[in-house]
Amino acid sequence: MWGDMRRWFRRKSSTLPDMVDVNDREEFGERNDRIDATQELELTHVGPYEIIAPIGTGGMGTVYKAIDRAKDRTVAIKVLDRRYDIDRKRRKRDYLGREILIAASLRHDNIIRMLDKIVEQEDLNGNVRRCLLMEYIDGHNLRKHIQDRDLTIQQMIDISIRLCQGLDFLHQNNIVHRDVKPENFLFSRDLKQVKIVDFGLSKSNASWRTRWIKEGGGTRRYMSPEQLAKRNLDARSDIFSLGITMYELFTGRHPCSGNDANEIMRQIRSSRYKFEQPSKYNPEVTSQLDRIILKALRRQPEHRYQSVTEMLMDLTRGAESRI
Ligand SMILES: Nc1ncnc2c1ncn2[C@@H]1O[C@H](COP(=O)(O)OP(=O)(O)OP(=O)(O)O)[C@@H](O)[C@H]1O
Ligand SMILES: [Mg+2]
Repeated sequence: MWGDMRRWFRRKSSTLPDMVDVNDREEFGERNDRIDATQELELTHVGPYEIIAPIGTGGMGTVYKAIDRAKDRTVAIKVLDRRYDIDRKRRKRDYLGREILIAASLRHDNIIRMLDKIVEQEDLNGNVRRCLLMEYIDGHNLRKHIQDRDLTIQQMIDISIRLCQGLDFLHQNNIVHRDVKPENFLFSRDLKQVKIVDFGLSKSNASWRTRWIKEGGGTRRYMSPEQLAKRNLDARSDIFSLGITMYELFTGRHPCSGNDANEIMRQIRSSRYKFEQPSKYNPEVTSQLDRIILKALRRQPEHRYQSVTEMLMDLTRGAESRI
């Protein structure tokens, strides 16, 4: 399917509208009128794909479900915010295309397949928008299970192992995800597919600053202390974010008790705030699992697991000893 799709977009790209130069405009003047996906669709189609419905909106744009009716093929399309509109200067600066290219070349059961190029499509207002095409997962994200508490402990362990395998693979390919959180872990309805999304998106300092301002506390609740301190990040930062996500998966609650984003951020950063053992909230959590999750959550990167491989070894050992 992906070969086909690539050919189609290569063929069509010459017929796409000319690039608009938005430099002369008040470039970000319109940034605030965020389009509400539920009220109006920004686009009716992207290439051969007809937009069916919005799935949700995050820090970079809105994700839509779309279908190529002739081929009966469904995909998910992330239409990037207007701040990622085509702009020759900006394109050079944000490296988005290059990162996508690397991310799309990766193949692993637990990471989403992406088309290896950004598709440009004119929206209903005549702006040329940048779109990322990916495999559509018919199901839900991890948030559902955190809320519904509908998994057995064995299923939680199994999911954690598969997420670790995907993340480990990304790290081995020198990709730090930087946005590890429940919404970026997707599941098919039968839980047979477990996929990491949104790796390899532009995380240049500039784009993070914008996100930082735009977003509420949603994403920051999963950031490592060093990420909150806006320091340079490596794979160990993803391990901390995974630790928070696993804490929520196993207990149904965030490890920080704070009532608002600012308080939570303070608790994440301060080593004076002690995370409770997950087993306190879920008696099925073994002491081994407690140790694994809390080791991922150590404030100092050098005290954490140094790689997901290492964490995975402890997790699989823990899983085996249960049998
Ligand atoms: N390929 C996909 N198939 C099905 N659903 C998807 C796909 N990619 C993303 N989603 C869902 O679409 C919604 C919006 O995703 P989006 O990435 O824009 O926001 P987010 O994950 O909440 O934030 P962030 O921008 O930090 O990733 C989320 O609920 C996500 O789980
Ligand atoms: Mg996402």
